[in-house]
Amino acid sequence: HFPPLIAPSVLSADFSRMAEEVIAVERAGADWLHLDVMDGHFVPNLSFGAQLIKALRPQSGLAFDVHLMMTPVDPYLEMFAQAGADHIHVHVEAGPHTHRTLQQIRALGVKPGIALCPATPPQAVEEVLDLVDVILVMTVNPGFGGQKFLTSQLEKIRTLRRMADATGRDIRIGVDGGVDVETAALATAAGADMLVAGTSVYGQPDYERAIAALRGAARR
Ligand code: DX5
Ligand code: ZN
Repeated sequence: HFPPLIAPSVLSADFSRMAEEVIAVERAGADWLHLDVMDGHFVPNLSFGAQLIKALRPQSGLAFDVHLMMTPVDPYLEMFAQAGADHIHVHVEAGPHTHRTLQQIRALGVKPGIALCPATPPQAVEEVLDLVDVILVMTVNPGFGGQKFLTSQLEKIRTLRRMADATGRDIRIGVDGGVDVETAALATAAGADMLVAGTSVYGQPDYERAIAALRGAARR
């Protein structure tokens, strides 16, 4: 699983030039493209929906890593699958029927991921590990880019790495929030193998350099 995958989050991109911004990170060496959907209900912010994702789809060959911060989420899964999502992450806190939600994502031909907020213990996803390809550990409270990485989540990453490995299945552990060169090193040392990076890519003048720096830090 090394080097870990880098998934720039377009939440920190220039929204007035979104297609160019997506093309730019693909050229700069991104592995996946992270797309944060916020509903103003599950999280205290609004971002964008399936329409933007669908419009961006033909502009990029990157895997679209769609992070749904919404409740309810089930009525919208098909819409995001049709928009071109390769992975759909739902929150375990968005419940109540996470097991069914993950099965529905798989049935739509999309790779399911389960996301956990900082207050949620790793055991909350224990019963759905056989249904997911990715576990997304939030290292900030979801809703905004540019927040500080919560080092309190490192122990959770370690625990989830052990739990994921024990399944014998290939499960990636992604880290989302406050990832920069310093925290990328901490997160990957704890067992993360996918790094979402908003500010630390789109907030930098040179995307290629920014992505290479994260990859370099993660390799240690
Ligand atoms: C936060 C989002 C993140 C966000 C990360 O709710 O899920 O994906 O874009 O932004 P940075 O990397 O700036 O913390
Ligand atoms: Zn996200």
